[in-house]
Amino acid sequence: MKKLLWLAVAGVYAIMCVAPNGHAGDRDTLRVFMRAKLDHSQKVLEGLAVDDMEMVAKHSQELALLSHAANWQVMQTEDYLNHSLEFRRSANAVTKAAREKNLDGATLAYVSMTMNCVKCHKYVRGIRMADASK
Ligand code: HEC
Repeated sequence: MKKLLWLAVAGVYAIMCVAPNGHAGDRDTLRVFMRAKLDHSQKVLEGLAVDDMEMVAKHSQELALLSHAANWQVMQTEDYLNHSLEFRRSANAVTKAAREKNLDGATLAYVSMTMNCVKCHKYVRGIRMADASK
């Protein structure tokens, strides 16, 4: 009987762990992760504003790295993957221009990268709204 009880407890625990978005801690971790993008992109802007190309390259590189992380892969769709790839490409373009001390090029790439932030968020919002109306 005692063994059965433990099995039941373990079973409930296992279900709680795999439930989508069911774990408050995971949501918080994801939020912190997502907000780090904002911090880095603000640092890129700061670097551009004061013509500190090392600062620009450091944070655009961090952004490209984040896009490889497991936490980034919130969705498994082809479109999400493409948005991620486009984003990474533009972040890398920022890094490259910054290393070449090309302020105008880095600024242009930054604008394109920022558009990729917005495009992906628009996509994610669209999917979520479609899901909610089902
Ligand atoms: C490939 C897709 C994609 C790209 C590109 C992207 N994001 Fe996000 N972002 C997401 C997703 C998905 C979420 C929502 C996660 C969730 O709540 O489930 C999110 C959430 C956020 C949040 C909200 C975090 C919170 O407080 O809940 C911020 C801020 C953010 N992203 C900033 C950025 C910035 C800045 C960029 C560009 C430098 C960027 N993101 C690029 C997918 C993306």
